[in-house]
Amino acid sequence: MPRLRVRHVAVCAVLIVFLYYVLPDEPTTYIHHEPRDGEQNTAALARYMNAPGAPITATKSSFAWNTVEFTYPPPLTPKIPPPVAKRPRIQHRFWKDSKAKAAVQEQRRLAVKKVFEKSWGSYKKHAWMKDALKPISGEYVDQFSGWAATLVDSLDTLWMMGMREEFHKAVAAVATIDFGESTSARVNTFETCIRYLGGLLAAYDLSGSEVLKRKAIEVGDLLYAGFNTPNGMPVDFISFEEAKLGGGLQVESSVVSASPGTITLEFSRLSQITGDSKYYAAVSQVMDVFHKHQNETLLPGMWPMMVSMRDKNVVSGYQFTIAGNADSLYEYLPKAHALLGSEDPSSAKYETMSKTFMDTASKHLFFRPMVPNNEDILISGNCDVLDSGPRLDPESEHLSCFIGGLFALGGRLFQNESYVETGAKLARGCAYAYKSMPTGIMPERYNMIICPDQSACTWDEEVWEAGRKKRPENKPHLPKGFTTAKDPRYILRPEAIESIFVLWRITGDEAFREIAWEMFEAVAKATDTPLANAAIDDVTVLNSKKTDYMESFWMAETLKYFYLCFADPDLISLDEFVLNTEAHPLRLSANGPPSVHSR
Ligand SMILES: *[C@@H]1O[C@H](CO)[C@@H](O)[C@H](O)[C@H]1NC(C)=O
Ligand SMILES: *[C@@H]1O[C@H](CO)[C@@H](O)[C@H](O)[C@H]1NC(C)=O
Repeated sequence: MPRLRVRHVAVCAVLIVFLYYVLPDEPTTYIHHEPRDGEQNTAALARYMNAPGAPITATKSSFAWNTVEFTYPPPLTPKIPPPVAKRPRIQHRFWKDSKAKAAVQEQRRLAVKKVFEKSWGSYKKHAWMKDALKPISGEYVDQFSGWAATLVDSLDTLWMMGMREEFHKAVAAVATIDFGESTSARVNTFETCIRYLGGLLAAYDLSGSEVLKRKAIEVGDLLYAGFNTPNGMPVDFISFEEAKLGGGLQVESSVVSASPGTITLEFSRLSQITGDSKYYAAVSQVMDVFHKHQNETLLPGMWPMMVSMRDKNVVSGYQFTIAGNADSLYEYLPKAHALLGSEDPSSAKYETMSKTFMDTASKHLFFRPMVPNNEDILISGNCDVLDSGPRLDPESEHLSCFIGGLFALGGRLFQNESYVETGAKLARGCAYAYKSMPTGIMPERYNMIICPDQSACTWDEEVWEAGRKKRPENKPHLPKGFTTAKDPRYILRPEAIESIFVLWRITGDEAFREIAWEMFEAVAKATDTPLANAAIDDVTVLNSKKTDYMESFWMAETLKYFYLCFADPDLISLDEFVLNTEAHPLRLSANGPPSVHSR
């Protein structure tokens, strides 16, 4: 026996010496198979940049948004902080996959790409330059001002999947978009920011194409015109023609909190790449309001779902959630910290706001549900603060599934593994909801039962039955553990795979990559149409009816996250990019244009 132990020690010593030499101190990337056309790598980037062909130039929009004379000019300070010098490591240190494993991942990567190519091909054929393809009829809709939302939203996915020729054609088309005209008289600030501005910035950050930068500035200036208001707070909807006149806009009296809260990343990145602090200064003012009042609400640490930017009132209201209507307000706090750092006083607030909200959400919104196999998972519910105090409502929705990935990211950014662990449980909670349903996809909105004992949960069928019967929306065929599928649709949303992707990249735990594949197979199968993919009406039954609807986030987010789960972990490394709420990667740190640039 002792000999054995000695040998053990010797083996360990050799291993330690080996690891010491192999593991670098600084983040390094491991390419686990040969670079392919499908991946952004320096060689491919250089090849593309040196490719012959006439440079694409941007056609100016019919109205120059940078010429609006503001009645209420927003402040021009604070200045955008200098680049962040050092960040903690975010991604797991990946090792090369074995040959057999790499072959499996490669097949999966190509399977995702194939689904994307089909949707993209049909968009091109039937809805080119329109906002969205209708995937059953082959018709189209313009619901986001008619600036080719799906095209702009898909640019960076085309790049990542190595579809460079398609990318070129798309950039040439983007060059002709006229942001001086809109199909709707009122332009949605939030959607325009996350889809158009986010899409253009990310595609610029990946390719360095000047056309994309020009167009990003045009949209940025259009959105900036939404800050021409008496108190400097942005409007939720920009009255398009009125905004051009510069006389000032009326801020709405009540908006969902996600709307003013989801501009920080895009405006900060725009300031970084243009060197013009005005965008950052404008949005900084908005986030100052949220910062100042964060602890004065009925649930200190979070803000109510509805806020009044007209009155700068972000404290009245009793409904709290990290799901729809509020989601990306919270999402952008740790992400703004990743982009801007905390060295500068004007951006230090994001770290405080992040940790404060994460602790409040952990305490008041997350719960362990009672499920048949007693899995240790977390679900994010809603919290109403009544006279009797905070009351947790165990209702959740697909939109809230981003929160697992966000906690994991926050854990790495703030170097607190307990957030990563919470994030993993939340991500597995959504995965549980997926695999429980006959289609393998979770519903848009549903209810579960809160475990009376959060640390040691034991399944009690009677408790579940009783809870189920109390719900008027209850249906007898629902899987055990669920008391409703209040909204049983799946509309091609990305949030669950988003968190699985982030957890995979952060922990390197193979289980997440396997979950990703199960989810992909389920989603691809249930949503497939002859042309593309469509929303389905009911995930709780097989062969559900479909709806003629395919949002631009299908190709911008859902398929991108699936693809990235099976691609090299250094493609869009979380140490190099932060993703906006539409899955558009913004480059971290670099203040100028991307390192390789031309055109
Ligand atoms: C809010 O409270 C947290 C502690 O819970 C604290 O760290 C933070 O600084 C407070 N925020 C403000 C703006 O006072
Ligand atoms: C990490 O976060 C948890 C809350 O999830 C908190 O209780 C703990 O104090 C934090 N640890 C450190 C070292 O900040």
